[in-house]
Amino acid sequence: MSNNVLIQGIGLTKRFGGMTAVNCVDFELRDGEILGLIGPNGAGKSTLFNLISGFIPTDSGETAFLGKKITGLTPNKVCHLGLGRTFQAAKNFPDMSLRENVRMGALFGVPDQTYAKAETETDEIIAYIGLGKYAGTAVPDIPLAGQKQIEVARALATKPKVLLLDELMAGLNPAEVDEAMALVKKIRGTGVTVLLIEHVMKAIMNICDRIIVLHHGALIAEGTPEQIGSNKEVIEIYLGEV
Ligand SMILES: Nc1ncnc2c1ncn2[C@@H]1O[C@H](COP(=O)(O)OP(=O)(O)OP(=O)(O)O)[C@@H](O)[C@H]1O
Ligand SMILES: [Mg+2]
Repeated sequence: MSNNVLIQGIGLTKRFGGMTAVNCVDFELRDGEILGLIGPNGAGKSTLFNLISGFIPTDSGETAFLGKKITGLTPNKVCHLGLGRTFQAAKNFPDMSLRENVRMGALFGVPDQTYAKAETETDEIIAYIGLGKYAGTAVPDIPLAGQKQIEVARALATKPKVLLLDELMAGLNPAEVDEAMALVKKIRGTGVTVLLIEHVMKAIMNICDRIIVLHHGALIAEGTPEQIGSNKEVIEIYLGEV
């Protein structure tokens, strides 16, 4: 493994009953990059995130983070090591305000955290994401784009070295997609490496350094946006439809 690889997946496999959702996937995430993960609905993208972050057990294969095996660790342990994530369907705490939601990440996602530091860091992150006007607002009263940003803010509050984003831009209008793209680039600019699942091709093609493609659980292509955009198999199974 070369020095600049932060996450390495080797032979990652997950079966649900008789269906193989992730099939012997090898991939690497390199320090400082924005890596796109694309593929048709049901390709196994979110399942791969769940394997990496420890939300579901891996059947075979393993994930290494910063050169150490993390397969089998609980999600909170993986988070404490510096791997943050968001969910395709936002998992915010609906009965809490935006600030309280972000504070959960700052409090519980950082080892040896103090309440006072968590408070300060929460306010810094809310300002950084630009969500200040909603800080005291309950989650259900915040528009969809804001609700997705809460997830990003809570993940950032855990001080990740790597951030996994699952469809941050789905359901957003074009102006909101532009804002989300700018946010992802800003996050990477602060030294956080990003792996993102996205169906919004404009975003994928504009912000990713590299792209990997899943189809029926298998990794079928890998390359720069230009290479993936002109890959005949990828166009046939996916890009022709989006
Ligand atoms: N907990 C589960 N139990 C059973 N089957 C599951 C489970 N989670 C996912 N699957 C199945 O695994 C396959 C891959 O699902 P996954 O959610 O990873 O796809 P995806 O690539 O993220 O798709 P989308 O783009 O629609 O979000 C699908 O057939 C899905 O129905
Ligand atoms: Mg998904």
